Amino acid sequence: MLTARSLNPALEDPLLDTMNFLNEVTARYPDAISFAPGRPHDAFFDVRASLAALDVYTEHASQSDPLRRSPDQVLGAIAQYGRTKGIITGLVRTMLRHDEGIDVDEESIVVTVGAQEAMMLVLATVLRPGEDVLLVADPTYIGISGIARVLGLGLVPVSTGPSGLDLADLERRIAAVRAEGKQPKMLYVIPDFSNPHGTSLARAARSRLLELSRTHDFLILEDNAYGLFAYDLERLPTLKALDRDRRVVYVGTFSKILYPGLRVGFLIADQAVALPGGHTGLLADEIAKVKSMTSVNTSSINQAIVGGLLLEHSGTFLPYIREKCAFYGRNRDALVASLSRHFPDAARSGISWNVPSGGFFLTLTLPFEVTGALLLESARDFGVLWVPMRYFYLGPGGGDQIRLAFSYLTPAEIEEGVARLARLLAPKLHERRET
Ligand SMILES: Cc1ncc(COP(=O)(O)O)c(C=O)c1O
Repeated sequence: MLTARSLNPALEDPLLDTMNFLNEVTARYPDAISFAPGRPHDAFFDVRASLAALDVYTEHASQSDPLRRSPDQVLGAIAQYGRTKGIITGLVRTMLRHDEGIDVDEESIVVTVGAQEAMMLVLATVLRPGEDVLLVADPTYIGISGIARVLGLGLVPVSTGPSGLDLADLERRIAAVRAEGKQPKMLYVIPDFSNPHGTSLARAARSRLLELSRTHDFLILEDNAYGLFAYDLERLPTLKALDRDRRVVYVGTFSKILYPGLRVGFLIADQAVALPGGHTGLLADEIAKVKSMTSVNTSSINQAIVGGLLLEHSGTFLPYIREKCAFYGRNRDALVASLSRHFPDAARSGISWNVPSGGFFLTLTLPFEVTGALLLESARDFGVLWVPMRYFYLGPGGGDQIRLAFSYLTPAEIEEGVARLARLLAPKLHERRET
């Protein structure tokens, strides 16, 4: 019989146990109000309308087809195995120019099975296990630390503060990795509305980070899953939009803009690669070789749906998501208002929270350690779920924080959820004030 010990060692990682615990608690208390999942709200999933976009795509592809195939013939071709880099790279390129100010060659784009596959492909292509190290902003999205572990890659956490990555700590970590004879090859970072903290990297820090990537010679893996979901300020330029030296590999997704069930994301890898024989290749092509050995190609049907929607919206999703941004922004406001209402004494009680200017997440800081037992009590006795921030950390930290996702609830549910949270915490805060 197989034993767990004989399987991939990543499966023994405590991270997986904590996630199992969270999933178990969620499954056991299905009626609890849940601030746990960072999911887009399903009120926005207009699946039937999106299926009609398939026809928009095939019609368009037929009209511009050099072989003069009919829409039905195009549809038949889509049903076949497809181009590894994807069939909508041109449309994604147009969208990136409109929506992100990113101007890249179509050939440097690979359409992937969500951002998750994009990250896996980048790590599997760029990093050599045992020699190269992935630096990660800590705390981080579990999908990146998880896949790095599955691939047997070394991970080094870099501290974060109220405005994201701590650049001084980054330099210290790079020096320490080099002192051990390893290469800090790549840094993973979510500069906009990060998961889990909800923080964003300031404009000046973005330029400084790009400068550091040149001086210390590392690549940046920029994950921009939430960038379009900005609620207050002008959006800041992505690292990729500022990247003049091709230091940034960029990952995006349609999961939050459209819906996650599509499983369509993409990456940009416009770095030159010196190949044997004195030739120069493109990192996107090397990544495509790895993709051809894993998922072969991203579902062409699903790509065509995304492509049709992009065509319907003239190559930009900015107006399309305006209503969603208004909804999520209202939820953010509702959460902040509920927290202020239910914790009127916050400063004296040692409670604080950030007000993220976009994305799906807010961090609540408490004056005591948050344990799995507290989460269990919260779900069982108070009917409210959340995630201990500790779960997202590689190094120490986050012990006194929780992540509240505000994307998946209505304002009324948010109000009730915070009321329940306040009832859970009241005796603990009182106890602490008395001592
Ligand atoms: C920061 C971040 N990156 C990537 C993903 C995964 O996106 P996808 O559904 O495209 O795989 C998520 C999903 O929650 C996320 O929060």
